[in-house]
Amino acid sequence: MIEFQNVRKVYPNGTVGLDGVNLTIGRGEFVVIVGLSGAGKSTLLRSINRLVDITEGDILIDGRSIVQAGPKELRRMRRDIGMVFQSFNLVRRMSVLRNVLAGRVAYHPAWRSILGLFPEADLRLAFDALRRVGLEDKAFVRADQLSGGQQQRVSIARALAQQPKILLADEPVASLDPVTTDVIMNDLKRINRELGITTVVNLHVVDLARRFADRIIGLKAGRIVFDGPVEAATDDVFAEIYGRELASAGWTPGGGTKAEGTPAADRRPEFGAATEAPAKAVPATDRKPDPGPGPGASAGGRLAAAPPPAPPAPGMSAFRLPDGVPAGDPPVMERSGERSVLP
Ligand SMILES: Nc1ncnc2c1ncn2[C@@H]1O[C@H](COP(=O)(O)OP(=O)(O)OP(=O)(O)O)[C@@H](O)[C@H]1O
Ligand SMILES: [Mg+2]
Repeated sequence: MIEFQNVRKVYPNGTVGLDGVNLTIGRGEFVVIVGLSGAGKSTLLRSINRLVDITEGDILIDGRSIVQAGPKELRRMRRDIGMVFQSFNLVRRMSVLRNVLAGRVAYHPAWRSILGLFPEADLRLAFDALRRVGLEDKAFVRADQLSGGQQQRVSIARALAQQPKILLADEPVASLDPVTTDVIMNDLKRINRELGITTVVNLHVVDLARRFADRIIGLKAGRIVFDGPVEAATDDVFAEIYGRELASAGWTPGGGTKAEGTPAADRRPEFGAATEAPAKAVPATDRKPDPGPGPGASAGGRLAAAPPPAPPAPGMSAFRLPDGVPAGDPPVMERSGERSVLP
């Protein structure tokens, strides 16, 4: 369970990212966060695993404050939280398998990961995760040889290899085509159902939110303006979240704009249907701060350092994958000093 208690985030430059957020997300839920660019979606998502430090309030994960957690506790808590980014964040020149195994590093001492030593159990987890996204046949392919959609599936597999209780996805399909978008969203939904992983996804396309969310949370100027089941998220609700002035200017909540003749470049990507061109390809971490949602935004109205390397522990069966495995090269298994090629 994730609990936000009176959460406020003010960035050093004075921008309010979140304001008075109270929110409870139950175990196993599939929640979609919607809102205009700058509404605070990423801030909210990133505060859950403390990639963003909040200014006031508290965030509890299964009753424990991640806000107040010390470094060791924070590391432990983050193990339970997988994250998927718009820009995939894979190590492009490494194999798919090696990227997925990166999901296991928090479970081992740093030296072991640096050496690329993973227990066999991790290997099984990595292959299981790849199977869940239909990519086990790509395990030994270099990440940069995959399509964008496949890379995003690898990043989902990496998150799964963490065996997380919570999966956070920040605009996971914003740079993908419509068909691939559906594949990824279906993967996330299926994984949520099969494994009961609490899933929180940021999306800016209303049509997708409608099709995949169980519960929708609408953010506007850092505040929650709607929180309810997808069935309750009517056109009026979306008009409120996205601003009535924009709705009356031609935007239809079902996706797309009424102004058929408007050149694609002039359209606001936030309102595009899934059929529109990729909205943005800038990695979240590289983004320039947005100017904010503007003065018209309503504030309220709730509609509803590594130690030196050491040898593996005696008896430990370890798996070693060299850095940057070339395409097609199987990894090498080290068993008590004996090397054998994996099947
Ligand atoms: N590092 C930062 N420094 C200052 N302001 C920031 C920073 N990150 C975000 N902001 C501001 O906080 C507000 C919320 O930003 P956030 O990135 O959470 O919005 P968002 O809903 O994810 O938008 P988008 O759809 O564009 O990703 C915006 O006004 C933004 O400009
Ligand atoms: Mg964002």
